[in-house]
Amino acid sequence: MGKVEVVADAVISNQSEKDQGFVVTPWVVKGNVDYDKLIDQFGTSRITDELISRIKKLTGEIHPFLRRRIFYSHRDLDWILDRYEAGEKFCLYTGRGPSENVHLGHLVPWIFTKYLQDKFDAELYFEFTDDEKFLLGSTSDLESAKRIAYSNMLDLIALGFDPKKTFIFIDTDYMETMYPIAAKIAKHITFSTARSVFGFENSTNVGMIFFPALEAATCFLPSVLHGKNVPCLIPAGIDQDPYWRGIAREVAPKLGYYKPAQIHGKFMPGLGQGGKMSASQPETAIFTTDPPDVVKRKVLSSFTGGRATVEEQRRLGAQADICPIYHYYYYLFEENDTELARIYNDCTSGTLLCGDCKAMLAERVQEYVAKHQEKREKAKELIEDFIVADIRGGLKKRSGLS
Ligand code: TYM
Repeated sequence: MGKVEVVADAVISNQSEKDQGFVVTPWVVKGNVDYDKLIDQFGTSRITDELISRIKKLTGEIHPFLRRRIFYSHRDLDWILDRYEAGEKFCLYTGRGPSENVHLGHLVPWIFTKYLQDKFDAELYFEFTDDEKFLLGSTSDLESAKRIAYSNMLDLIALGFDPKKTFIFIDTDYMETMYPIAAKIAKHITFSTARSVFGFENSTNVGMIFFPALEAATCFLPSVLHGKNVPCLIPAGIDQDPYWRGIAREVAPKLGYYKPAQIHGKFMPGLGQGGKMSASQPETAIFTTDPPDVVKRKVLSSFTGGRATVEEQRRLGAQADICPIYHYYYYLFEENDTELARIYNDCTSGTLLCGDCKAMLAERVQEYVAKHQEKREKAKELIEDFIVADIRGGLKKRSGLS
């Protein structure tokens, strides 16, 4: 296992894989996640058909991630829609901890965020937590985390966000703006709360103990910059929920802000048996920077839900539900529901064999990654249009706010 997990295990003591077969914290996701159980544990709400119809009425189009319940849980999404219908626009907030190259799983919340930006004409605030990754020990030094942030940023920009409405910042370049908000939040969080929400221990460094105030601070940044209360919606994987549940939503009323709303995503699996796609297991993750032959090799050597022999598979069918290859179609590589159902049926009836299914997916992933890489290359010219920073070391501040 990589360094990240070792360090994170030392930070976190409030969840045990043995108790429930999986762990979901902001730093560790392990085992086969029971998403329904998380709704109960975290006290969130399920995304209902009714809520989806409401979104469809407003946007005219439902993203497959919603239709397929890849984004499946929320807090106050109905409230955000109430405000929107009443003429009050919301902003979006999401982020990335820059420790490695971006993989396809990271793109899932960002693609969804882009859909929300387009449909609701919303500003996006995107935080790169270089400090978090350094403090956690996931990068050897702070400077490498920042370097990785600049590289990861290309993946985000490649997805086509609107530069006029998208504000990307790296924590350590935006501290003059962020620190006063974080300090006001931190004053309301005791060590005891932070320990129970995040599982910090006596050996956890104090930087990590303060850090949740910074991830929470971005929820209120748009309100500070606009000089009025702005509703905030956070599309992200459900692993980030402790920051909102335990910190931002608790502190918001004390500081006079709206509580931030969330829409929670599931995790795109890795290509191994069980578990999410994770940079700490590079052979089972597809990075956006992987060359075509590597993409192909990884897909073709994936675990599948196939049977031991062709004869058995023809007789019994394969197990699509436990197969990462099927899940890749489900997440990103087959938007058409009828086609997806056909793949599922052909797989589980034994008509489609794993070799053919993998070969078809490998082609689609190769094509997707190649196109993404072209856009990623072009994004190098665009960084300046997106970045916001405090004036320091020659960096230009871009407020861009009306
Ligand atoms: P990070 O870098 O661990 O993850 C970035 C985003 O990717 C999601 N994610 C996945 N989604 C689907 N499938 C996967 N396999 C997968 N792996 C990761 C995460 O849930 C997250 O949404 N501390 C944060 C950075 C951050 C942030 C935020 C994230 C700062 N502010 C606000 C979300 C919202 C981090 O390290 O994320």
